[in-house]
Amino acid sequence: MLIAGNWKMFKGPSDAAAFCRDLRDADLPDGVDVVVCPPYVSLADAVQVLAGTEIGVFAQNCHWAEDGAFTGEVSAGMLRELGVYGTIVGHSERRQYFGETDETVAKRTEAALAAGLHVIACVGETEAEREAGETETVIRRQVSVLDADESLVVAYEPVWAIGTGKTATPQIAQDAHALIKSLIDVPVLYGGSVKPDNAAELMGQPAVDGALVGGASLDVESFAAICTAART
Ligand code: PGA
Repeated sequence: MLIAGNWKMFKGPSDAAAFCRDLRDADLPDGVDVVVCPPYVSLADAVQVLAGTEIGVFAQNCHWAEDGAFTGEVSAGMLRELGVYGTIVGHSERRQYFGETDETVAKRTEAALAAGLHVIACVGETEAEREAGETETVIRRQVSVLDADESLVVAYEPVWAIGTGKTATPQIAQDAHALIKSLIDVPVLYGGSVKPDNAAELMGQPAVDGALVGGASLDVESFAAICTAART
């Protein structure tokens, strides 16, 4: 089981350091891999505070070039230099608001893996796509650009469930995960309004290998509770 906290654009360096100190001292279960994904500016503090622990630090994105004229972007090598362990790629907010496409997601994923980072690549349909019966087509298309790798994890995040409080039912998650696993042989995390009170049921589905948690990962107590629920 892997539980990853996607902080999005929350927690600057001092908040991140304080959170990581509390997380370091929290009672986290054995057998569950735990990672946090702070904004770029807070990565160094998170790495420093969590050094020597089992908790990994991931970025939220990563460019495919080693370096170059790409204002506002950060490369995998730069993240490695900081001691960052992996990165999220292709989050639906990047696809929705920042023009991320299947092609750029593929390039980012490939480059990050080649540079030695672990990758959580996100896929998932919008509400309109689900209502139009296109869920399977969308998932197939988004997954088709990814190649299995021992350092790759896919996160299934139905866009209609992100930050909305509308969690996918365990059956919807299970069906989507089973489809993804039939296309690519990697662990699959569920993301979208995972909370302490729904985590155990979602994590109990056979094709669910963990969670990518947004809002509920911003508080140490609720994040630790989700990690604990993942073990049971
Ligand atoms: P949420 O976000 O848990 O706040 O719905 C999940 C995500 O976007 O990764």
